[in-house]
Amino acid sequence: MRDSILVTGGAGFIGSNFVLSWLAGESASVVNLDLLTYAGNPASLASVDGDPRYRLVRGDIDDANLVRSLLRDHRPRAIVHFAAESHVDRSIASPDAFIRTNVHGTFVLLDQARAYWSELTEADRRNFRFLHVSTDEVYGSLGPADPAFSETTPYAPNSPYAASKAGSDHLVRAYQHTFGLPTLTTNCSNNYGPYQFPEKLIPLMILNALEGKPLPVYGDGKNVRDWLFVEDHCSAIGAVLAGGRVGATYNIGGASERANLDVVTLVCDLVDEMAGPLASGPRRKLITFVADRPGHDRRYAIDATKISGELGWKPAQQFESGLRKTVRWYLDHPDWVRDVRTGAYLEWIAKNYTERTTL
Ligand code: NAD
Ligand code: TYD
Repeated sequence: MRDSILVTGGAGFIGSNFVLSWLAGESASVVNLDLLTYAGNPASLASVDGDPRYRLVRGDIDDANLVRSLLRDHRPRAIVHFAAESHVDRSIASPDAFIRTNVHGTFVLLDQARAYWSELTEADRRNFRFLHVSTDEVYGSLGPADPAFSETTPYAPNSPYAASKAGSDHLVRAYQHTFGLPTLTTNCSNNYGPYQFPEKLIPLMILNALEGKPLPVYGDGKNVRDWLFVEDHCSAIGAVLAGGRVGATYNIGGASERANLDVVTLVCDLVDEMAGPLASGPRRKLITFVADRPGHDRRYAIDATKISGELGWKPAQQFESGLRKTVRWYLDHPDWVRDVRTGAYLEWIAKNYTERTTL
């Protein structure tokens, strides 16, 4: 084994943040296997382009030959698996790609990892890790007074996205249980921060608010998410990779439950403050209630007692300070924003919002 790791989906939102923080803090090199779908953006990693410890390979986790040859050539000590289709609304509009990448792609990756791992020396086999990055959405929806999701909460995925991630989690579990592959699984709450593709709530609202466009809040806006700043998610993944117990799953969350309407209102106020007011008045006036997402989960909340107790991890960022940093980042990176809002992005926005009736 070499002092290298294979990251999948490292050109996406969380993956690119992870690769940047890894290269800043660790010595091991990174091979980034990414298909560069609409969500993958090498520009997010421009600052490490010349780093000899970093290499981007454009390819599919569902391509067994490619994965086999990457493992053979780079001999990584770990695989950190981010690659996925990740947007719930897209999984409702066209679920196929979610099953292909999230379920079958994860299966291919696991199967190739197992073949590679089984031929390592005994010591290398003991040290190898397959870390699967998953979501709290596998647990379904909570009522207002329900306790937060723990690692023993039964799976109850409600969207095609959540179901495909649940399927991948089960495959990871089975490869550990049946074949002994040293896996780790993390189930994290909603992330926000730099480099997030502006189809997701927070960057979409920041950019629409900046441009004085309507801010489309689904349903009554009272759905609750537990928000975590992306750098805190990356530090949690680092902690699990370094010290997590083989076969264990760890829930990761920010202890920052917020209703969507409160999130969007705060975004409006921060954009008013940082970019100056619109001639038409405060940006809160742009909030527009639109038809709800079918099957929309009401509330997510994470109990992160296990990871904090076992590994000493805690989020460093409060929601209000993290959101402020995030708004600042989008205001300061108009070139990145312009580049990701290309033809395919515009088609999605037209499809998801033009057909959605205003309430
Ligand atoms: P993202 O959509 O921003 O990025 C996904 C990346 O995977 C992209 O770079 C894309 O090009 C790549 N990819 C897609 N299909 C691929 C394939 N077949 N082969 C290789 N690469 C492929 O997603 P994200 O928000 O960064 O999420 C990363 C992971 O974290 C996902 O597994 C997601 O389920 C999980 N997660 C996300 C959140 C969140 O709030 N964003 C929360 C918890 C867990
Ligand atoms: P999203 O960022 O898509 O993450 P997830 O569905 O994985 O939680 O959405 C976060 C919340 O914001 C979710 O309750 C749906 C809601 N939402 C809106 O109200 N309007 C929007 O335009 C989007 C994209 C999301």
